Amino acid sequence: MQIFGLDIGGSGIKGAPVDLDRGDLAQERFKVLTPHPATPDGVADGVKEVVEHYGWTGPVGLTFPGVVTGGSTIRTAANVDKSWIDTDARALFSARLGGLPVTVVNDADAAGVAEMHFGAGRDRRGTVILLTFGTGIGSALFVDGALVPNTELGHLELHGHDAEKKASSKAKEDEELTWEHWAHRVHKYLAHVEMLFSPELFIIGGGVSRKSHKFLHYIEGIKAEIVPAQLQNNAGIVGAAMHAAEKDG
Ligand code: BGC
Repeated sequence: MQIFGLDIGGSGIKGAPVDLDRGDLAQERFKVLTPHPATPDGVADGVKEVVEHYGWTGPVGLTFPGVVTGGSTIRTAANVDKSWIDTDARALFSARLGGLPVTVVNDADAAGVAEMHFGAGRDRRGTVILLTFGTGIGSALFVDGALVPNTELGHLELHGHDAEKKASSKAKEDEELTWEHWAHRVHKYLAHVEMLFSPELFIIGGGVSRKSHKFLHYIEGIKAEIVPAQLQNNAGIVGAAMHAAEKDG
């Protein structure tokens, strides 16, 4: 079965039809840049462009980079326009897509669900935490495979700062940090999360998961196992489609 998966991020809106049996993209993904400011209207236009690129007319699963409650209401907007707060995202996207059935889930939760099913978290019990390092830091917490949604661990306070402002990959780029310097910050962040949750496994996701050989060796002294995500930057798209399939039936 195929469902369209679409990942809305701080820099790009990317999507593709997803083969749910294989947990992989059925076609090459298509991406448009996230508009700035990333208002509901502008983002919805980008979503429409990506879906129309494929002439898709079936169900669409979307991710959103903020807290999503009740499967539709946006509660936070750290890296997109603040006018998202309290938006009924499902209604907005469905209307813009000519009435196609849509579902909306937090981006890190979607990536986590995909990794637990098809990637680095397969068959892993106990407490598993996936962290995505991108424009912000997203988190997905699993206990014996079950997701605790909307955990928002990227906003833990670390040395008086919002953690994602210091340890996201955007912070690395903005401050032109070396991999070693940035890894040092990620290490402090992981130590803090470990102190709170004692997970068995950390899965490192987001664009940096492809470059784990450049920084994971700098991170020492964390008791949990630390592995890169396996679906890499497609985990959000795959997880969005999985979420839609679950809601569909
Ligand atoms: C948001 C999270 C999101 C993460 C990654 C954070 O700023 O609050 O909801 O998962 O960025 O996009």
